[in-house]
Amino acid sequence: PLVSTGELVGQARAAGHGVAAFNVITLEHAEAIALGAERAGTPAILQISENAVKFHGSRLSAIAAATAAVAHASPARLALHLDHVTDVELLRAAHPEGFSSVMFDASKLAYGENVKATADAVRWGHERGMWIEAELGEVGGKEGEPPLDAHAPGVRTDPAEAAAYVADTGVDALAVAVGSTHAMTERTACLDHELIASLCAAVPVPLVLHGSSGVPDAEIRRAIASGMVKINVGTALNTAFTGEVRAYLTGDPKGVDPRKYLTLAREAMAETTARFQRLLV
Ligand code: G3H
Ligand code: ZN
Repeated sequence: PLVSTGELVGQARAAGHGVAAFNVITLEHAEAIALGAERAGTPAILQISENAVKFHGSRLSAIAAATAAVAHASPARLALHLDHVTDVELLRAAHPEGFSSVMFDASKLAYGENVKATADAVRWGHERGMWIEAELGEVGGKEGEPPLDAHAPGVRTDPAEAAAYVADTGVDALAVAVGSTHAMTERTACLDHELIASLCAAVPVPLVLHGSSGVPDAEIRRAIASGMVKINVGTALNTAFTGEVRAYLTGDPKGVDPRKYLTLAREAMAETTARFQRLLV
């Protein structure tokens, strides 16, 4: 069934668990995540990023409705989240499309402007019963961005600034820069666990780890033990998807039926999501 993000994050936090949020690009991603959640016996968050909406011609409705329909039909508890939103128009479109939560991403703005834009987004969302996540510090590595040194001190989230930011914006969850980077295809990221613990102690809301595809299993487990709650995974699904498609097409260069390789790709993504979910409980 379709449940709310706030409910899943709240329950995970109370239990000392993590909850995985997986990026949906195609219908097969949504189906795979639902299947993975069913196999792992855990809930999950289906998130659609602003970049994925752009991929679908900047029309939110079709991919949102398809993803929501998958959630409704699944025995697993699944929530619908709109991810990395920079466009206020898209934020406003989220509510009628059935999203219970949005990550509003003003992380590229200077601190004062980030606070102002995010506080406005939170006010708008809370009036509609929505759960709003925001980012402070820069995780980096998003599509079209130059590579960023995730370990440079300037990009890390400062605990005192994080506490002020949460108080000034009223956000429900905070994405923090603690050593992970988006779009890594190797799992070699090293997290700053002392910083995670300090951030947890400093802010009253749950923390979100972005770029978790590049974080090794043991580091993810430790991050949850230090208090990280929402674990965002995107690239690992695409690595699984594309690996299957590439192998199939190499073995059958004359094949044309997409169901042949999409069946394999969906199954590989389902196993990948189940594996991540088993790490979090
Ligand atoms: O918001 C989405 C996540 O941060 C995904 O990052 O593709 O590096 O796993 P990833
Ligand atoms: Zn992210």
